[in-house]
Amino acid sequence: MPVTIVIGSQWGDEGKGKVVDLLAPEMDIVARYQGGANAGHTIAWDDKKFVLHLIPSGIFHEGTTCVIGNGVVIDPVALMKEINTIKELGFEVEGRLFISHNAHLIMPYHKAVEQARERYRDAGAIGTTGRGIGPAYVDKFARTGIRVVDLLDRDVLRRKLKDAIDEKNAILRGVYDAETLDVDQMIEEYVAFDQEIDPFVKNTTEYLNAALKDGQRVLAEGAQGSLLDVDFGTYPFVTSSHPTAGGCCTGLGVPPTAVDRVIGIVKAYSTRVGNGPFPTELDGDPEGIGQKLRDVGHEYGATTGRPRRCGWLDLVALRYTTAVNGFTDLAITKLDVLAGLDELKVCTRYRIDGKETDRFPNDLATLERAEPVYETFHGFGDVTGADSLDALPATARDYLRFASDFLDVPIAMVSTGPKRSETMMV
Ligand code: GDP
Ligand code: IMO
Ligand code: MG
Repeated sequence: MPVTIVIGSQWGDEGKGKVVDLLAPEMDIVARYQGGANAGHTIAWDDKKFVLHLIPSGIFHEGTTCVIGNGVVIDPVALMKEINTIKELGFEVEGRLFISHNAHLIMPYHKAVEQARERYRDAGAIGTTGRGIGPAYVDKFARTGIRVVDLLDRDVLRRKLKDAIDEKNAILRGVYDAETLDVDQMIEEYVAFDQEIDPFVKNTTEYLNAALKDGQRVLAEGAQGSLLDVDFGTYPFVTSSHPTAGGCCTGLGVPPTAVDRVIGIVKAYSTRVGNGPFPTELDGDPEGIGQKLRDVGHEYGATTGRPRRCGWLDLVALRYTTAVNGFTDLAITKLDVLAGLDELKVCTRYRIDGKETDRFPNDLATLERAEPVYETFHGFGDVTGADSLDALPATARDYLRFASDFLDVPIAMVSTGPKRSETMMV
């Protein structure tokens, strides 16, 4: 019963979209299990480029079915917009995309509360994507959320929306002194989704388990990254879901015994969007390497356009996310972006209060004091499009081998450009 999970091993934007799109032709189903339209997964082929936010990265392969699982939070406006754009590109979506009847919905009040809360937090703001993710998961766990299935019954939806909006307006007004929302207008807008969304709604847990029993192959696509996991990430500077391996089981309703492969996507350096600790960050470094990585790697958020913070590869953090996820394979991405640098650094320990450690601290105050201790490697020249490890410069091979040995996980794939063709299977 083979389920393969693809997980970001760092702070997101590792290239999950590219890797999932590449593996999709070997799969029957590609399923998203957490997060929402905070994700921006880029897929590039020929001269085309597309950023997916909610729809799984298997949608551009006609033989693959896509599932949005119960663990995802769905903004119906964003979903319908994405479906229509993909249809306009000439891809069939109906009959190939199923969304869980149990997935929770993101409503405009979630975004309003998030905005107000971020403003209220001021210097302590998380720097979210503003897609309403946190407040939607809060409602889910407070057991006041509205689910996809509720969209299909206009009377139920009216009642639930009115209760929810009344409560959120009281919070917006009373706590945040922010603008409130119009109940009637929102109800009118959202009741109209019933017919639009109906063809896509399914009991996806039943569907996935039947498919697995039938011998079909499922790829579970993580969004965000392990260090943004609400339990295992750099809390509170995290997202509100579980990108790590366990999230796949609860976010789809597939058993852990069905999972036989966990691929960790590792960007060849580190990036982070939004606030929070980042020990290997190169911020205003005298040689301008942080800015160089941003320019060459086009490190700007695929969802918000914000510049991504850039830094060296952090093997301390990666050893930790390898343990949490149980990576069976690594897919290294964006190796080409490092080309042309004289030397490369890799963090193998942290120095905290004068003492060296190889453990990733799981409290914010300690992590904020962590200074990286580096091993230095020789740089390498152009690697774009290399089709085997042997085709890489020896110094690039050394860099990859060191990371793989350090993490004790084999490398299955190396990506040297955004396009499908710029990838080697190892
Ligand atoms: P995701 O969120 O993990 O799917 O990653 P994003 O799509 O947000 O960011 C990855 C970016 O890097 C996208 O613009 C990709 O097209 C691009 N990309 C992916 N792999 C490579 C690679 O190996 N080299 C280069 N130069 N770009 C890549
Ligand atoms: P993909 O799937 C990078 C970050 C935000 C913020 C924090 C919380 O493309 O890798 P949220 O809106 O989720 O409440 O924001 O998480 N973040 C991401 N960073 N890639 C993403 O997705 C992200 N999704 C959320 O910048 O720091
Ligand atoms: Mg992204």
